[in-house]
Amino acid sequence: MKILAIIASPRGMQGNTGRLLEEVLAGVKEAGAEVELLSLKSMNVQPCVACDVCHKTGVCTIKDDYESIKGKLLACDGFILASPNYIFSVTAQMKALLDRCNGLIHCMALEGKYAAVVETSGGGEDEEVLTYMKRFVNTLGANSVGGIGSGVAGIRTFPDEAILYLNAQNLGRELCRCVTERQKFPEQDAFISRFKARMSGLVDIMKDYWAFEREQWEKKLSR
Ligand SMILES: Cc1cc2nc3c(=O)[nH]c(=O)nc-3n(C[C@H](O)[C@H](O)[C@H](O)COP(=O)(O)O)c2cc1C
Repeated sequence: MKILAIIASPRGMQGNTGRLLEEVLAGVKEAGAEVELLSLKSMNVQPCVACDVCHKTGVCTIKDDYESIKGKLLACDGFILASPNYIFSVTAQMKALLDRCNGLIHCMALEGKYAAVVETSGGGEDEEVLTYMKRFVNTLGANSVGGIGSGVAGIRTFPDEAILYLNAQNLGRELCRCVTERQKFPEQDAFISRFKARMSGLVDIMKDYWAFEREQWEKKLSR
């Protein structure tokens, strides 16, 4: 089982989010999965330029690390998104990646995969940022197995750290269990179904322009 973890802190794994992610990954590794860790800090992912070419060809025109990350997302069984809270949202590094995934979202290309989300903050709105990342996971067609977030108690330390780390390790193990058992999430199905109708409808409206996405939906709907 392949689990891809993507961290979007400018501090990489040396910051608070990296510390919490370490515990989630300990759970993943204990469950026997293979982990690949990508730190956006040391990668080049530029903002989307809205050229719409990915909708037509399936390939982004910007020559940076996005296509490689996309390949890894398509190849993994499960993934983890980790970001600090920057002004009630994810970091610019994470947002650039999410925006670049627009073509994947249009095709709901990660259907059948599972994801967990990780966040840290100075001390607030953890749920807001986790909910945002979970919704992104669902827009890709993937299931969210849960998230863990916390304010900090200092540099790379947290309040109630022992319990937090246990919960983080459990989240990692749970991600792997969901992959293995093909866990169903009925409470997410309604959103994913609605979003599917919306995306397939959008691509249908644009079918004369967005050849790649039209073909993806034709294949998806004929399965
Ligand atoms: C630009 C910036 C914006 C931030 N915005 C918030 C915020 O809105 N709410 C909050 O609680 N903490 C905020 N913080 C604090 C970080 O979320 C917090 O220190 C986090 O643990 C940093 O994670 P890292 O060490 O992995 O980078 C902000 C920090 C920075 C640098």
